[in-house]
Amino acid sequence: MGRDLSENSNTEKKKVTIADFSKMKAEGRRIVMVTSYDYPTSIIADDVGVDSILVGDSYGMVVLGYDTTIPVTVEELLPVCQAVKRGASHSLLIGDMPFLSFQISEEDAIGNAGRFIKEGRMEAVKIEGGKDMAHIAKAVANTGIPVLGHIGLTPQTATLHGGYRIQGKNAHSGKELIEDAKSLEAAGVFGIVLEMITEEVARVITQTVSVPTIGIGSGRYCDGQILVLHDILGLYPRFVPKFAKRYTDLASTIKGAIGEYTSEVRHGTFPEEKHVFKMDDAERSKLDLRQKS
Ligand code: KIV
Repeated sequence: MGRDLSENSNTEKKKVTIADFSKMKAEGRRIVMVTSYDYPTSIIADDVGVDSILVGDSYGMVVLGYDTTIPVTVEELLPVCQAVKRGASHSLLIGDMPFLSFQISEEDAIGNAGRFIKEGRMEAVKIEGGKDMAHIAKAVANTGIPVLGHIGLTPQTATLHGGYRIQGKNAHSGKELIEDAKSLEAAGVFGIVLEMITEEVARVITQTVSVPTIGIGSGRYCDGQILVLHDILGLYPRFVPKFAKRYTDLASTIKGAIGEYTSEVRHGTFPEEKHVFKMDDAERSKLDLRQKS
């Protein structure tokens, strides 16, 4: 039997703001984030009442089929942002700045972040990187564009850091991560995604910084959680990360439906009478007459 989801129902459609993020941390209310890459799932997530939707550059992997997020461009993400915006009226909308859209210079970062706001119609942007990217986060935030930081495993630079590895496994790297978080806080970010960081380190970061932490694979003590939608739905066939929970197996459901359709077309059982359009009788008799002559 399904759980009662009425507590999640977003009937009031109150808009979630940046201020709500810090209020939720202060009040100990967990922040719920999910990714979305299209209009229908944006409508659904917004209707469920998630607090924020991230148009992640994970789009490149789970929708476009790239091996990594590195090839994703601003041009590819902007129409995705627009589609998500059309579906959501409640959730805080965050656009993920892809690789090399913010690292080159502060000016370039501000310009591209501005495109996410003006063209993509997002309300904030996410930037990967700790201390090294704090000046960029600051420059963007200073222009009035809210920035969500992202530290720990940063997929855009994972190759440089030895692949998709758990972060903060020893005290030294734990301290580095805490420093990263503090630099971003000082730069003016409104929250920080902690990806694949040991639970102990993520907990210290969460207690140390005043802005909310959003965990993905970083344990139970973050201020909120985010998962990639396709992992929740069981729609990414390549692999499921250990930290993700599959709440349904949509790939099997879709396979079953397409399989049934294929079989019905091949056996002539689809379309049925109820799926067809008919002429009125007078027109049909004219057609019949013409066919006879
Ligand atoms: O691109 C993405 O989906 C992300 C989340 C995993 C945080 O960056």
